[in-house]
Amino acid sequence: MKTRVMPPTQEAIAEAARLIRAGALVAFPTETVYGLGADALNPAAVAGIFQAKGRPGDNPLIVHVASPEAAEPLCHVDARARALMDAFWPGPLTLLLPKKPVIPAVTNAGLPSVAVRMPAHPAALALLAACGVPVAAPSANTSGRPSPTAARHVLEDLGGKIPLILDGGPCEVGLESTVLDLTAPVPTIVRPGGVTPEMLSRVIAEVTVADSVLRPLRADETAVSPGMLYRHYAPRGQLTLVRGAPEPVRAACRALYAEARADGRRAKILAFTENAAGYAGCETLTIGSLARPETVARELFAALRGMDAENVEVILCEAVATEGIGLAIMNRMCRAAAFRVLEV
Ligand code: TXA
Ligand code: MG
Repeated sequence: MKTRVMPPTQEAIAEAARLIRAGALVAFPTETVYGLGADALNPAAVAGIFQAKGRPGDNPLIVHVASPEAAEPLCHVDARARALMDAFWPGPLTLLLPKKPVIPAVTNAGLPSVAVRMPAHPAALALLAACGVPVAAPSANTSGRPSPTAARHVLEDLGGKIPLILDGGPCEVGLESTVLDLTAPVPTIVRPGGVTPEMLSRVIAEVTVADSVLRPLRADETAVSPGMLYRHYAPRGQLTLVRGAPEPVRAACRALYAEARADGRRAKILAFTENAAGYAGCETLTIGSLARPETVARELFAALRGMDAENVEVILCEAVATEGIGLAIMNRMCRAAAFRVLEV
């Protein structure tokens, strides 16, 4: 199959909507990452998503809607959910709510809940409006690879497997949406993202963060969010995070870098604008500024893909503070590092 890449003009949106209504798959930009969309109510179309991504069937999808009202037929929306939609939609917040019967089992892995989100990207909203059906869309990457934050990443992973990619340029947020479980006794963040715990607690009295967000699941544990079970966001090289006070962290990164080079291995340090100078003599890639962590969020996944493209074998990066968007950055980095975090 030939994969066309088109800017989201009116004609391209109309063509994308036609494809989705006909049961085909279309990749489209959102403010977080690119999504791989299909008609959420068409089981055969949704099955195609799992096939194209190589995604395990027990990992449920997010259903994207064009408005809060469009979520009503899909799930039970209570006052608390409505308040969150009012505050954060369109935007990077996904809500887990009790599903209604219209949701096919393949879309939500047969769970009692369904994930719903109204994205903020104009092309995504135009597509959803034109489709007139809710659109199931996971990130448009091959399962296990870093999520795509540019159309070329989608093409790398899914070229030849889908008919159309809408190219809306680089994604603004760069990390996937916050997933908030409203079916839990206390609203629980099962995946941190652009809408931070601090922001949520301004709208709802109680909100907690699943403690598995920054650690691996134990063998006996069931994941609230099945996606968190799988090896994720991982570059092919081995990423190590180093955490501690600035001076010892820098010394440890330099030492690990030197050790890898001495072994004849290709090594690189992911540095922040503020501390790149501390790595003079090492190969570095700057991934944004610690003073503006949203820039790190935006650049992280492209940087991990870049490491693969350059066949880097050993990747070193300083841990970041877990406040605000930092929690989402560390959640993705810890998984990319398979929880290899060195404390110094
Ligand atoms: O920003 C985003 O959320 C992007 C864009 C395209 O909207 N989508 C995305 O989808 O990241 P995906 O499939 O890559 O991640 C969805 C996450 C997975 O960890 C999945 O397990 C979880 O949400 N999830 C979905 N439905 C769920 C449900 N009913 N119960 C628990 N977890 C659910
Ligand atoms: Mg994903």
